[in-house]
Order: sequence, then structure tokens, then C-alpha cells
Amino acid sequence: MRQKVLITSALPYSNGSLHFGHIAGAYLPADAYARFERLLGKEVLYICGSDQYGVAITLSAELAGRTPEEQSSFYHQVNTDLFKKLGFSFDHFSKTTCSEHAPTVTEFFWDLKKNGHIEEREAEQLFSEKENRFLADRYVVGTCPRCGYEEARGDECGRCGANYEATDLKNPRSKLTGFTLVSRKTKHYYLLFDHFKERLTNFLKTKGWKSNTMHFASSYIKEIKPRAITRDLSWGVPVPHDKEGKVFYVWFDAPIGYISATQEWAKNKGDRELWKRYWYDPQTRYVQFIGKDNIPFHAIFFPAMIMGQNRPYKLVDELVANEFLNFEGKQFSKSDGCFIELSEFFEHFEPDQIRYTLAANAPETADSEFTWKDFEMRCNVELVGKLGNFVNRVLVFVQNHTSGKVPPRGELQDVDARFMNELSCFEKEIQESYATFRLRRVTALIMDLASVCNGYFDVKTPWKDLKDESTRPMMETTINLCQEGIKLLALASSPLIPQAAQKMWEMLGRTTVLSEQLWEEVTKNPLKIGTKLPVPQILFKKVDWTLDKITLMMKPGAA
Ligand code: 2FM
Ligand code: ZN
Repeated sequence: MRQKVLITSALPYSNGSLHFGHIAGAYLPADAYARFERLLGKEVLYICGSDQYGVAITLSAELAGRTPEEQSSFYHQVNTDLFKKLGFSFDHFSKTTCSEHAPTVTEFFWDLKKNGHIEEREAEQLFSEKENRFLADRYVVGTCPRCGYEEARGDECGRCGANYEATDLKNPRSKLTGFTLVSRKTKHYYLLFDHFKERLTNFLKTKGWKSNTMHFASSYIKEIKPRAITRDLSWGVPVPHDKEGKVFYVWFDAPIGYISATQEWAKNKGDRELWKRYWYDPQTRYVQFIGKDNIPFHAIFFPAMIMGQNRPYKLVDELVANEFLNFEGKQFSKSDGCFIELSEFFEHFEPDQIRYTLAANAPETADSEFTWKDFEMRCNVELVGKLGNFVNRVLVFVQNHTSGKVPPRGELQDVDARFMNELSCFEKEIQESYATFRLRRVTALIMDLASVCNGYFDVKTPWKDLKDESTRPMMETTINLCQEGIKLLALASSPLIPQAAQKMWEMLGRTTVLSEQLWEEVTKNPLKIGTKLPVPQILFKKVDWTLDKITLMMKPGAA
């Protein structure tokens, strides 16, 4: 039976357009992994969707003069379009307002409550006398109780990553009015996370996640305590039988969105039970991709919620938490003018150019950076100068000197055998890098492979061998092996730069869809001798811009 792999990317809030920092962290690595696992023949289900509730939405809606519903529908569409433009291969991209979501959240709530893990408590919450309402987390700013940062958000600190209740902040103020807030008593449901301390500790011990993730999660567990899972808001999943119209805290409902999105996928497939094939099967391998700020919710809260309810949901197997990607030394931020207008970006550049650049700078073990200079170098020196150049010179040679066909492979000299051996070593190392979520390494290996291929072509000098009948077979062998090099480059880069990889595949005379092939079949079967190749096209455009164009894409102060 084929191994089932369930892959999810953190559900992005639909309160604004995603930027390349987001894409590099929780999205591109997941898409590349999903594409890689499909090539290996696994039964992959890649799920994502918009996180439409919570104060991140209501707050941005208020600032934009829209209702939360209008705001979240608008940005759901914007982000859906962006993913499409970037060639994402989700099996389903849903949203937490889908009809499956609230019933599944309610089911979790009742199970957890009946099992004694939820209780109602009276607690102090921050109240705005000016606005006459309780203000939830993101409506609040104040001083971080851990690091003293004065502009910390109400639920987590943007500087040290601490995660807390808004009432833990010192000097809390309203984000909208700037007025000081007071504490008032209100009733809320609390999830007693401390009930799961031992099970979570044992669960974590079985994991070999990155050290940032393990460290953050294990120190969080040490101080785990009950947390309010309801809010005094009108936008969210309603708390059942609640007279005051409270809703669930977004971090209670959002992770359940992974399940409800899969339920919606199943419904669209015409079999409402199909989602259980993944979520209820202990043999499914579940891989979650997130940004580092989401670690406690995925390593602790969601697993605890699953442990405390009554259905056999899969717990996460691999939690891939990436760091942040900055933009020219600063955080991406629309209000500070540190952002790229994406509609404009795609007027000038190709999706594969940015996919490659983001992968090459993926923030895997530390924060990293996107700079225009690096983007230009990646596009012109690496994609055009190394990869595109090799593919082009070989395929032009084929048109001119081997009748546009795959030539036969004659007797191998040492240099040819060594080259073939190198191809096979690269293949293994690239596979291993994808399997261990190291996209930076994959991009470096692909460029090294292109350089080795270019070096082989140069050393073999096929343009000399073609002149004499006696050396012509050597030329044909060289070209045949170079074409095998192109095939491997296409296959190995397909999860990262799918459009260019498909072009390479077609330029080798293939008429199928590369992403639907099996890795093993592609590498095992040599190119068919005599296959007629189409006239080669240019693989990558050179980035050619003026500084004005770049400046156009950064609009300081625009929101
Ligand atoms: O940080 C965020 O953008 C959240 N919307 C991620 C949610 S992930 C999942 F739990 F839904
Ligand atoms: Zn802090």
C-alpha cells in the first residue's frame, strides 16, 4: 500500500496579503515537499486555507472600514490568487468559515468538556471604558512580561516570542485609541492544558524536531497552565449555549481548520467520509509546516486538544518550524513601506524566479533575508548563467549536430563513467535534502550539478569530436549523457521550479507532465535514442531593471 502523507501549512489569517516572508517560511517548503513526495509515489494530501476568525481579522477590518466578513472574504481571494500565481499544488485551499468548521470545533469542545478538560472560570479581562467593551489580545498593546518590550501584542511578544494572556501585560493600552485599559471580571471557558503535561512530555520525547522547536516546546510545557478558549467578540465560532454570544478563541478553532478543510475536500470529492482515510489512520504520516511564532500552538495546544477528545485523530509527526525572512534588513511591513507590491512584481518576474530565490534563502535554522541584489544574482548568475546556460548549449548543439535527436551512447571512457557516477551521487543527495526539509541545500546542489554538467561539456569538447567520423561516437556519447544531466536537473528541480522543470522535460522530447511521473522511473529509464527534440526555448529571463523599478515596488507608507 502507498504511504499516505498529510501535509498542512499554517492557515494564513485573511487580514492582509501574504508577503514573501510568509511564503518562504510555512508555504514554499511545504509545497516543495508535497511535490517531492508525490514524485516518490506517496499518496499526498496537501491542505491549507484561510484562518478567518479572531481579532487579527476584526482589528484589520475596523482599520479598513470593512466588516470582518468583507475583510476576510476579500483577503481570502487575494491570497488564493497569490498561491495560484506562485504555482502552489494544494489539494485543497479552504477557509474556516466553511460549513464543516463550526460543527467540528463544537464537537471538540463538547468532548473536551465532558472529559473534564474544560471548565468555566470567572477571570479578570481587559476592559476599555472608552469603548465600553472587553478588548481581546490583539486589540491590546503593552509591556512584555518577559522581555520588557513596550509595544508587545496582547497574546504574544513580537520581540522575544513569549506567549501569554493579555492581562499579563504591564501597562496595557487599547491599540485603537491608546487609552489605558482596566481589569474587569467576566466568565470564560478554560482549557486545562496542565492535564496533558505528562502526555505532552512523553509525546515530545518521541520527536526529533529541530532544536528551536524542541527547546521552545519543552520549556513551554514546564510552565503549562489553563488558558481561556473563549472571547467576548461577535466574530468567530459561537460557543454553544452561551447567552452572552461569546465565541471561541481563534487558536482553539484555527488548528481544527486543518481537519474541517480536509472534510470539505472530501465533500467536494463526493465522498464525505474520505477525510478519515488520512486523519483516522495511524499509518498516515502527518507533516505540518509553520512559522516559528506558531510553535506552541502546534507542538502543545493542538496535540493536547486531540489527546483530550474522543476521536482517533492523527497527531503531528513532523513539525517543520521555520524562522523569519526579512526584507533588505527589516521585517516585511506594509505600513513601514517594507513590502513588495506583488501585482507589480509579477508584471516583471516569473514565479519560478522568486520560488528559487526564496528557497535559496529559506530561513531554516536562522532568520534570513530577501534583497534585490541577491534576487538579481540568483536569477542572472545561477538560473540563467548556470542552469539555463547548460540546458541551452546542449540543446542548441543537438539541433545543429545530432539532427535534433537523442544520439546513441557509445563506449564509455573514464570521464563519462565518472560523470554518470556524479549524476547518481547528486540524485541521492538531492533526494535526501528534500526528505529532510533542507531547501537551501537543494538549491545549492542543483547549481553544483549544473556546474558539473557544464564542466563535463567543456572537458569533453564535443564541438571538436563532431568533425571526424572516428571521434563522432564520442561526441554522441557526450551529448547523450548531457541530456541525462538535463533530465536529472529537470526532475530534481521540479518541486522547486515546476514551470521551468516542465519546459526542460518537454525540450527533451517528453510529452507527459513531469510532476505526475515517478522519480524512480525517470532516473531508471534512460532517454530513448532517436527521440526527436523540439527547438529549444530560453528557460529563464534575465533580470534587467533600473533602480526606479525597484523603488516603485516599495511604497513607503502605503497600506
Ligand atoms: O499565525 C497565523 O497566521 C495563524 N493564522 C496560523 C494558524 S495555523 C492553524 F492553526 F490554523
Ligand atoms: Zn518579550
